[in-house]
Amino acid sequence: MTTVRITARPRGPLVVELGDAAVELVGPDGQPREPPPGKRLLLCRCGASKSKPLCDGSHNRIGFEAPPPEPDDGDAG
Ligand code: FES
Repeated sequence: MTTVRITARPRGPLVVELGDAAVELVGPDGQPREPPPGKRLLLCRCGASKSKPLCDGSHNRIGFEAPPPEPDDGDAG
């Protein structure tokens, strides 16, 4: 089993470390998109990317900063 690691950068995207996992990327229009080469994806979470769902660096331009986590973040129940 491949473990995919996802890390939220405080002022930027979600970093998805794919390892050997396959990925299907779908754009906001519902159409499949070619994932970038490599074993890592950067997913936009600021909402400003023009290449959603991928990060295009726009978080720097808008000064994105994620709110601090809630005390119960990570609790699925
Ligand atoms: S997180 Fe980078 S463009 Fe949105």
